[in-house]
Amino acid sequence: MTRRPLVAGNWKMNGLRASLAEIKAMGAAYDEALRARAELIVCPPATLIAPAAEAASRGGLGLGGQNCHAAENGAHTGDISAEMLKDAGASYVIVGHSERRADHGETDAIVQAKAAAALRAGLTPIICVGETRAEREAGDALGVVGEQIEGSLPADAPEQIVVAYEPVWAIGTGLTPTLADVAQMHAFARERIEARLGRGKSATVRILYGGSVKPANARELMGVANVDGALVGGASLTAKDFMAIAAAYR
Ligand code: PGA
Repeated sequence: MTRRPLVAGNWKMNGLRASLAEIKAMGAAYDEALRARAELIVCPPATLIAPAAEAASRGGLGLGGQNCHAAENGAHTGDISAEMLKDAGASYVIVGHSERRADHGETDAIVQAKAAAALRAGLTPIICVGETRAEREAGDALGVVGEQIEGSLPADAPEQIVVAYEPVWAIGTGLTPTLADVAQMHAFARERIEARLGRGKSATVRILYGGSVKPANARELMGVANVDGALVGGASLTAKDFMAIAAAYR
């Protein structure tokens, strides 16, 4: 089974127009040899998607949003629909990031509705799951992630969806799970995705690892079985670090 690795940058609430220079540099460094081995996308703030699509267009670098509303349009002041992201030049959207689950009270049901909206609009959802430190210490990591997969993936989702395993305690902390823990969780996640989607679909679903991925640890993390790429926060803000991480696939 060959899954094309995906390295996705999540800029979070960072980036002004001046930052487009980094996206341009990423596009320029995303050469044919790397394109043959891995797919690269950046998810900047929504304000930068359209200009980033222009800046990146020649390199094949893809773009994604960081969140979307479940509805196509309407009276939802301040929200952005999946259709709008698509129109701006995105082909992916992150849904259910732990920061949104925590800051905006997003439940599995809300995340599932957003993932379905992404599919409706022709975007690929990157559906995030992951346990907190307390949940891991209580021995509940697998149970929590299993439940999030069950509740956050639309049951009729196609095999093109992406799932990102991001232990909350590893995000922005410089901490990462052991490679054995990553291997255990990713194998378990694939089983749960199979149980949710059925009919062998899980074999083609890409499962990304996220949480303190850096140039120094990318190679070993990306080498773990069932790790099909990375969701990168802080280290995706500069072309230098992001391309150094992507180089794990060269
Ligand atoms: P980090 O963030 O790489 O800065 O830990 C990852 C994420 O939240 O997607």
